[in-house]
Amino acid sequence: MKKEKKYFVHESSFIDDKVEIGKGTKIWHFSHIQSGSKIGENCSIGQNVNIGQNVNIGNHVKIQNNVSIYEGVELEDYVFCGPSMVFTNIKLPRSEFPQRGSKLYLKTLVKKSASIGANATIVCGVTIGEYAMIGSGAVVTKDVPAYSLVVGNPGRVVGKVDKKGNCVK
Ligand SMILES: CC(C)(COP(=O)(O)OP(=O)(O)OC[C@H]1O[C@@H](n2cnc3c(N)ncnc32)[C@H](O)[C@@H]1OP(=O)(O)O)[C@@H](O)C(=O)NCCC(=O)NCCS
Repeated sequence: MKKEKKYFVHESSFIDDKVEIGKGTKIWHFSHIQSGSKIGENCSIGQNVNIGQNVNIGNHVKIQNNVSIYEGVELEDYVFCGPSMVFTNIKLPRSEFPQRGSKLYLKTLVKKSASIGANATIVCGVTIGEYAMIGSGAVVTKDVPAYSLVVGNPGRVVGKVDKKGNCVK
């Protein structure tokens, strides 16, 4: 008997071998999930998303269109990645001196329920704390404390937010 999949993958997307996808997760058009990656339950993976090798993604994570989650990036439960935001995994990229391989990728951890606005850039090697809110277009170059609001380039903490993302005094 054919075993029914407990998740949805649009026919235009590619799922490599050795990938784990949790139940209720939906993967929309033109996306690529690379080998060794794990995606939790009830996630939404938008259009033109690339999940790199060995990436771990928690449950209830929402990744909007045109986002690449490179190896070295980890997303905990309920993380939100806005459209066209950018992660990195090499701090000093040079085509002439390629740095390939898991050991060379700087780690980026996005903790539970943090949100990253549209078009923001996360320079690798940082931790974004729980419930932090990264404004659209911000360039994050340092660790972000939990419940902090970060805007600008370079990103600066300009306030605190509550669980729903509203600014608090
Ligand atoms: C610009 C860059 C090369 C600097 O690296 P670095 O010399 O190690 O710099 P540091 O992290 O020590 O930061 C030094 C200062 O520059 C700021 N800064 C770093 N990168 C920045 C960026 N991209 N935009 C704006 N400011 C930046 C930091 O906030 C810090 O400011 P401060 O001293 O006022 O606190 C690096 O941060 C970067 O952007 N690398 C490119 C990553 C990338 O695109 N990779 C693509 C392949 S995955």
